Amino acid sequence: MKYSRIIGTGGYLPPTIFTNADWEKRVDTSDAWIVERTGIKSRHIAGPNETASSMATQAAISALEQCNLLAKDIQLIIVATGSPDKIFPATACLVQKNLSVPTCIAFDIQAACSGFIYALSIADQYIKNGAVQNALVIGSELMSRLIDWTDRNTCILFGDGAGAVVLQASNEPGILSTHLYADGKYDDVLYLDNMQLGDHVDVIPSLQKSENFNTPLENMQPFIQMQGQKVFKVAVAKLGELIKDVQKQHQLKPEQIDWLVPHQANIRIIKATADKLGIPMEKVVCTVDTHSNTSSASIPLALDVAVRDGRIQKGQTLFFEAIGGGLTWGSALVRF
Ligand code: UT7
Repeated sequence: MKYSRIIGTGGYLPPTIFTNADWEKRVDTSDAWIVERTGIKSRHIAGPNETASSMATQAAISALEQCNLLAKDIQLIIVATGSPDKIFPATACLVQKNLSVPTCIAFDIQAACSGFIYALSIADQYIKNGAVQNALVIGSELMSRLIDWTDRNTCILFGDGAGAVVLQASNEPGILSTHLYADGKYDDVLYLDNMQLGDHVDVIPSLQKSENFNTPLENMQPFIQMQGQKVFKVAVAKLGELIKDVQKQHQLKPEQIDWLVPHQANIRIIKATADKLGIPMEKVVCTVDTHSNTSSASIPLALDVAVRDGRIQKGQTLFFEAIGGGLTWGSALVRF
């Protein structure tokens, strides 16, 4: 077994839909601005009892059902999330419990919006080296709990949801290659502080305020912080460089790609990426209009939509790409 293949896809979107008109009632924005600058028309917002693990579990159940695999056959669960239920245990362990998967390997990974690509790459290595046969790779995000609902620069961009794939060992090529990158020098253009670390400033003696108290904890922000324009520019540039790397490695021609399944942050970034790949928008799976940016869930959710509506067929070549906080970015070239 030399390869890993995606044999099942699943998705979960919370039933509550929040439109641009709903945002118009809360912040100084307009449907026209949001559609023109981002391509987003609506997003799903989780209910009070929903969590990253509950949504991940639903997506995993739907992926397992699609490929008729049982929970007992899973030996590895990786959840990519920046909005875990708990700092520990890992969301992956909670999914394992919910699905009654017997003792297995389960952990979360954190690479912001590139999380699914990172998780897929890790699971691919586990399968290729023979350690496991079947893996669940999930992206699940509760972005609505991480945004400042009064900040029009960020609040209109994000939504909630989870997407999952089942990856299985195979003699047939599946994941053809993954490319992962990070550059921490961009840590300040898109980030979310861990407020937990600032909560005990008053009771821990070593942290108590003195006259010259001035630690990073004091400057913590409770919500997502983003320099949108800067992220936009770096995203377009880095994704362009990434595409050159992949094209060089595989001697890849535009006509060899059946579908681009991109991270769904902004329709303008998606169009720029399609241009760099040399493929028309008819070959791009776009869900940004109705899902908005669901961070690490966006690629597996878009994949699941296009598999279930019949656009993506077995044997086709897919290109996944994403960029997000870190900054991290990456891609996967996949024979479906
Ligand atoms: O998934 C992780 C990676 N994240 C991304 O890829 C996001 C990358 N960035 C973007 O998608 C875009 O930068 C945004 C959609 C976030 C913003 O679009 P932009 O075209 O870069 O707008 P801008 O930030 O340059 O703002 C232009 C104007 C500003 O007003 P002034 O200063 O020109 O008067 C903003 O205050 O638009 C204003 N603005 C808004 N107006 C109406 C910002 N947000 C809004 C809003 N509604 N929601």
